[in-house]
Amino acid sequence: VNGKIVIPVVVNVLYRTAAENISDAQIQSQIDVLNKDFTATNADFSNTPTEFAGVAANVGITFQLVKTNRKSTTKTSWGTRDAMKKTKQGGLDPTSPSTNLNLWFCTIGGGILGYAQFPGGSLATDGVVCDSKYVGVTPDSAGAYPYNLGRTASHEIGHWMNLRHIWGDASCGNDLVDDTPIAKTSNFGVPAYPYVSTCLPAHNEITMNYMDYTDDRGMYMFTNGQKARMLAIFSSGGARAAFGI
Ligand code: ARG
Ligand code: ZN
Ligand code: CA
Repeated sequence: VNGKIVIPVVVNVLYRTAAENISDAQIQSQIDVLNKDFTATNADFSNTPTEFAGVAANVGITFQLVKTNRKSTTKTSWGTRDAMKKTKQGGLDPTSPSTNLNLWFCTIGGGILGYAQFPGGSLATDGVVCDSKYVGVTPDSAGAYPYNLGRTASHEIGHWMNLRHIWGDASCGNDLVDDTPIAKTSNFGVPAYPYVSTCLPAHNEITMNYMDYTDDRGMYMFTNGQKARMLAIFSSGGARAAFGI
């Protein structure tokens, strides 16, 4: 990886209702959030507690929307088994997934905000799905609160770039990143700092990290260790080296 990293993004919108056919402006607001969150230019980055300021990262990755595909459907929800990624199943096949991040915006159902495919999986299903209600920045009053600031995509793209949840999906589990302290489990809402872990030895959890499950306004930073893990997949020999960045 050398120089500036720009990820070309293809958006795939699947809609039955007018609300699901989210506007170009709403989609661009999501791209804008990603560009801030991955360059530490988000306004809330400075809320990072002093304890974690030394590990808070400018990931140095930006995103450029290259195309939006739209398709009308009769499906009321798409689930989490990749049907939205398959034209044959009524969805939309990804566009050049080895060199583009494909995003699918549709109704997932089951209370799921989004899901991602980790590096190394099938190219035919590679990318990130976000429920259309939680795409981009939406007024508090519009029904998406507390997931109305576009952080679902920031979190899911973290997974797409090989990040695990900060609790390692186990009780006091390992996320394979050294500078994220061990966490007992997922945190919700906006935990007050300091949030003392029940994993020993005593320490505070990094609940404001994008890879926790807090409200959108409660997550606003990646760490240097997470940045290294993300950049590694784009380097020579990495699972996403084909992006050529
Ligand atoms: N993978 C989580 C889910 O499917 C997404 C969590 C996103 N968190 C957020 N504050 N937007 O529910
Ligand atoms: Zn997740
Ligand atoms: Ca860790």
